[in-house]
Amino acid sequence: MSRTVVQGGLVITAADEVHADVLVEDGRVAALAAHGSPSADGWAGAADRVIDATGKYVIPGGVDAHTHLDFPFGGTFSSDNFETGTRAAAWGGTTTLIDFAVQSRGKSLRAGLDAWHAKSDAQCAIDYAFHMILSDVNEHTLKEMDLLVAEGVTSFKLFTAYPGVFYSDDGQILRAMQQSADNGGLIMMHAENGIAIDVLVEQALAAGRTDPRYHGEVRRVLLEAEATHRTIQLARVAGAPLYVVHVSAEEALAEIAQARDKGLNVFGETCPQYLFLSTDNLAEPDFEGAKYVCSTPLRPREHQAALWRGLRTNDLQVVSTDHCPFCFQGQKELGRGDFSKIPNGMPGVENRMDLLHQGVVEGRISRRRWIEIACATPARMFGLYPKKGTLAPGSDADLVIYDPTVEQTVSAETHHMNVDYSPYEGKQLTGQVETVLSRGELVLDRREFTARAGHGQYIPRGTCQYLI
Ligand code: URP
Ligand code: ZN
Ligand code: ZN
Ligand code: ZN
Repeated sequence: MSRTVVQGGLVITAADEVHADVLVEDGRVAALAAHGSPSADGWAGAADRVIDATGKYVIPGGVDAHTHLDFPFGGTFSSDNFETGTRAAAWGGTTTLIDFAVQSRGKSLRAGLDAWHAKSDAQCAIDYAFHMILSDVNEHTLKEMDLLVAEGVTSFKLFTAYPGVFYSDDGQILRAMQQSADNGGLIMMHAENGIAIDVLVEQALAAGRTDPRYHGEVRRVLLEAEATHRTIQLARVAGAPLYVVHVSAEEALAEIAQARDKGLNVFGETCPQYLFLSTDNLAEPDFEGAKYVCSTPLRPREHQAALWRGLRTNDLQVVSTDHCPFCFQGQKELGRGDFSKIPNGMPGVENRMDLLHQGVVEGRISRRRWIEIACATPARMFGLYPKKGTLAPGSDADLVIYDPTVEQTVSAETHHMNVDYSPYEGKQLTGQVETVLSRGELVLDRREFTARAGHGQYIPRGTCQYLI
C-alpha cells in the first residue's frame, strides 16, 4: 500500500473550506482530519511521502469538460494531441478532461469512438473520457447512441452551426433529443444559426470585409440567442435535458436563465476567453485578430459582466476551455484574406484554473464557487462524481496544491501547450499550481513535470448527476 499525506493546507471543495491534512492511500483519498488533531496524528510517520501545503490551497484536480485534441477542422488538425494536451492540462491543475470524439459524415459513432481511443490510448498524462459529436443523425446513429450511453459515453454534441460539416437540422436535433430522453444521455448544443451566418459570411466577403474581426460581426449575438431559444424549445418538446456549450452572449444567457426560472433542466457552460477577452482582440491589426477566432465568437466587453453574473447566480454552471489550439504560423494563416477560412478555436487548457482563480482574486466569485464551476459541477454534470471533482474519502486522489500568492505572467514562452501563441500573452495573474497528484501519483512536483505518458486512464462515465 502506498501512502501520501498532504499536510497543513486549506482544503477547498465546492461545499467547504477546512484546514486539514489529507491522507491518500492507494490512489484514493482515505481520510481528512484537522492538522495536529488526534485523528491525523501518526499519518506522517507511516507515509511514503509527506507534502507540506502550509499556506497553500489543497483543491480537487480540475475537470475540463470541453477539449478538442487532435481535432480535424478547416482542413487541418488542432495542434495539441493527447500527449501534449494532457501534459499541459496537468501543468495547469486539471486532472480530468472530457474530449469530443467525432462522428464523420456517413460513418458510424463506433468508428468515431474507435478512432478517438486509437489517438489517446497510452498517450495521456491525466485521466480522460469522451463525449461524442453527432454529425450524421440517422436511424443507425440513434440506435448507436443507446450503446454508447451503456458503455460510458453519455453525452452528445449537436450543432446548429457549420452547415455541411457538423450541422444538424431541427428534425435531426429533435430526434437525438428524444433518444437521449429515453436513454439518459445529455445533449450538448452548439447554438448559433449557421444557415443565417453563412449568408452574412458570403455578403461580408463579397463586400471586401475579409479581416478576422468580421468573424465576430457576422456571427451575431441575435443568432446565438435565436439558436439557444430554439434548441431549448426542442428539448422541451422532447422532454430532454439540455446543456448549452460555450455561451458567449448576454442574450443567449438570458434564454437559459428564463428556461431555468421555469424549472427546466437547461444548463449553460462558458469559457475563460468569453470572461477575459473581447471583440477588441479580434480587431487587433496585422491579422493578429486571427488568434482570437473561435465560435461562438468573442463579444463586446459588456458581455463579460453578464457572464460573471451568470456564474454567480448559477444560470451558468460550468466553465470549460473549449481548448482547440491552432498555431498562428501555418494554421491561423490559412484564413489570410478570408476570415471564414481561419480554423476556429483557441488554446486554454493550461490556463483555466488560474484565470478562474483570478476571478476569486478580483472578487467576482468565491473560492468555493471557483471549485464548483471548475471541478465539482463538471464532474456531476457528466457522471464522474464523486470519483472526480471533490476531495472526500473514496474519491480519486486527484489533488492540486495551489499557491494563491505567486505572481505569474502568462506567455507562450513558458506555457506547455503545443501552440505558438497565447491569447493571454503578458497577462499578470495571482496564484499558480505548485504540485499535482493524479490518483495519488505525482504528476507535477513543485513545478517539475514527473508523469509518464500513459499514466492517464480512460474513464467510462455515468449519466448526468445534476438534474433538477
Ligand atoms: O471555435 C471553436 N469553438 N472550435 C472548436 C469547435 C467547437 O465548435 O467547439
Ligand atoms: Zn462548438
Ligand atoms: Zn468545442
Ligand atoms: Zn501511473
